[in-house]
Amino acid sequence: MDTARVAAEVVAPTLAAGVIKRRPWVMAVADRFQWDRPAISLLRALHAKYGKGPLRLRIPGRDIALVLDPGDVERVLEGSPSPFTPASIEKRAALDHFQPHGVLITGGPRRADRRRYNERVLESDSPRHSLAGRVTAVVAEETEWLLTHNPGRLDWVAFNEMWWRVVRRLVFGDAARDDVSTTALLDSLRKRANWAYLSPKARNRRSAFQHRLTELLDRAEAGSLAASIADTPAPEGVAAAGQVPHWLFAFDAAGMSTLRTLALLATRQRQAAKAMDDLDDEHHRYLRACVLDTVRLWPTTPVLLRESTEPTAWNGDSEVWRAGTTFFVFTPYFHRDPETVPFADSFEPEAWLDGRIEDYPALVPFSAGPAGCPGENLVLLVTSTVLAELLRRAEYRLLAPRSLNRRETLPATLDNFGLRFTWFGWFA
Ligand code: HEM
Repeated sequence: MDTARVAAEVVAPTLAAGVIKRRPWVMAVADRFQWDRPAISLLRALHAKYGKGPLRLRIPGRDIALVLDPGDVERVLEGSPSPFTPASIEKRAALDHFQPHGVLITGGPRRADRRRYNERVLESDSPRHSLAGRVTAVVAEETEWLLTHNPGRLDWVAFNEMWWRVVRRLVFGDAARDDVSTTALLDSLRKRANWAYLSPKARNRRSAFQHRLTELLDRAEAGSLAASIADTPAPEGVAAAGQVPHWLFAFDAAGMSTLRTLALLATRQRQAAKAMDDLDDEHHRYLRACVLDTVRLWPTTPVLLRESTEPTAWNGDSEVWRAGTTFFVFTPYFHRDPETVPFADSFEPEAWLDGRIEDYPALVPFSAGPAGCPGENLVLLVTSTVLAELLRRAEYRLLAPRSLNRRETLPATLDNFGLRFTWFGWFA
């Protein structure tokens, strides 16, 4: 009975919303009925009923364990890629539609080289990527373009167009600014990826996309990630170009989180005042913390899957579970559990700056451990720069949704496609 409830209240809504490419109409329904709230409550109830888990679900032919304890989240993430590989069977089935060589679905000895390559080009350890100057210049131009062409109003469609211009210019260079057809090609493959093994591979389309990608990367335009790729030798088997589809796909999540952050800042005076003070900080420390907390509140990867590569011991070593067990970490539950996180349902960027976050190993908007997101610093650089440039130019009021105006409890689900603003500023 409880397995059926997890399937109906946690798994089905997550799949329906589109794991690889969100479906706007489902997101609108999810927001209307706040789908994440019952999912979070159910996992809290299961924790109370069965203890700290992980809780094995009764699914014929599969070993799936629901992680319920923050310490176990830490264990499986720190233990990646071995004995807990991120290249789980479901992820391989989904991502193979458009990124067969991506590090996330690479198992075995090849993974280490691919991971290192991602880290080098994305400069994972550096809060300021060497392209930071270029990020500021591109973002300044594109935000100005956005506001000039949308006087007094801002919605998802307009924002998203601007966002992808920024992404294409940073990844491929200025020549790709208006190459919407490549983004559309990727989108169509991502829609198929939502269906994982249930959808046949669109092999011709995938080859067309890969071909286009190679053309764009071969230009290696100065000041783009394509140029960094050209300058970074790749050991055999890395498939450098094959890493890029994941980057493009994942930049989508960054755009969603940026507009959600703007919505939070438009409705919260205290944080908005601090954000304005942050505009002159080259590192945009406060705005970065704002984005981190937005992704905590509405995780763009709500399910982290890990699969054991060898037998693992649980429950004080009293049980050994076989290799191939899937560990299912539903992050909204950990991020929004008021029993363990005092600021669960409020916007609390300060927690990322004052060290409080260290006490919560299960607050993992960008995952964590050796297979955590290598793009985190680059994402925070681009998103904080976009927010800074938008805030510098105008003042924003949120028109929709109204749910964000409630001071205390933030909504469990927030449809990014439905965000609408009006703005005033020196452009108006
Ligand atoms: C808001 C934006 C983003 C968020 C919240 C995010 C979050 C995550 C999470 C949670 C994972 C782990 C996934 C899993 O274990 O299944 C991950 C992996 C990864 N992310 Fe991101 N990501 C974002 C954007 C990006 C961007 C823009 C890039 C590249 C430019 C990127 C590159 C990667 C790569 C390569 C992996 C796979 C790492 C591995 O398997 O070792 N991400 N990201």
